[in-house]
Amino acid sequence: MKIVLGIETSCDETAVAVVTNEKKILSHQIFSQINTHKKYGGVVPEIAARNHLDRLDTMIVDVMKDAHLSYNALSAIATTTGPGLIGGVMVGMMAGKTIAATYDKPFIAINHLVAHVLTPRLTENIKFPYLALLVSGGHTQFLLIRDIDDMLELGTTIDDALGEAFDKTAKMMGLPYPGGPYIEQLAQKCRDPQKAIDTYPLPKPLYRRAGCDFSFSGLKTAIAKQVQSPPDGDIKPEDAHDIAHAFQHTILEIIKDRLQNAICLAQDLSQEKLTQMVIVGGVSANRYLYNGIKDMAHTHTLECLTPPLKLCTDNGAMIAWAGLEFLHKGITHPLSFPARPRWPLGRAQ
Ligand code: KG4
Ligand code: ZN
Repeated sequence: MKIVLGIETSCDETAVAVVTNEKKILSHQIFSQINTHKKYGGVVPEIAARNHLDRLDTMIVDVMKDAHLSYNALSAIATTTGPGLIGGVMVGMMAGKTIAATYDKPFIAINHLVAHVLTPRLTENIKFPYLALLVSGGHTQFLLIRDIDDMLELGTTIDDALGEAFDKTAKMMGLPYPGGPYIEQLAQKCRDPQKAIDTYPLPKPLYRRAGCDFSFSGLKTAIAKQVQSPPDGDIKPEDAHDIAHAFQHTILEIIKDRLQNAICLAQDLSQEKLTQMVIVGGVSANRYLYNGIKDMAHTHTLECLTPPLKLCTDNGAMIAWAGLEFLHKGITHPLSFPARPRWPLGRAQ
């Protein structure tokens, strides 16, 4: 049996997990720094790095104890080495390299985005090739996943990432950071969805255009106007429910339109017939979007899967699992592997 320790520190979650090649999460811990960053309306890199430093060592010790493992029992140590906030990435990476050096274990450098797109293979039976929609706070991409080291970007955002669009819209509506989950909750309270869509018409940038790129910044500007001067005078709680629904509805329409093109392109570029797609990254926690995308995928005979909620947002198990996938292929990295704040996925680098 192979066992990998995974460490994630690239943003504002300090996360550690031990996972086996039999897809068992032996132990995992996530510490969210969100309450620290909330008052600044976003993640402050320096504070994030210091927080990782304060927590990470004891979390690693606790996770190993909880899994009843000695460090010698590990097959490898995998850490996120990018992309992300450089200070935090270095904290996790150096902790992982130190354990690897001390116990003479292989070190595996994981691209955070690769870990997100491979996570569904930990929880579901997913085979290469598959189509992935990666939607997080910093990224929005369609990718054709042909293997762990063969991923091709089919489309991306030309301005804001989808999570960012959620967060900025939420901020304009006076909601806390990160706003995605709050918008979803407000939208669930919308009493008359059709009326909401009619009252708050929002633009759909790039809609019906060729390709599978996204654009969300026009939406944000339109919402800003609605919030500043609502159609009937001032903003009431019901208006916020309606705006949240109109926003999510428009996002879903945009994604479905882009998905149609992405499926065609992925089929053309794939040697084998595509039968599965996955949605990964923090925004995949949104059930309204997930259900809408799943229905659309089904009409194209694609099974659509997403990891369980706790594995949708950043976590250590996804890093450990990606490490196991690399280990299985015989891929490990030297201790000289650098931290990479920018590390695009699926493009010629
Ligand atoms: O992948 P993630 O945890 O962190 C990175 O950006 O790498 O994604 C965080 C993003 C945030 O923008 C957050 O607002 C969004 O995921 N998010 C959601 C939901 N839950 C988290 N967006 C919409 N609906 C949700 N339920
Ligand atoms: Zn992430």
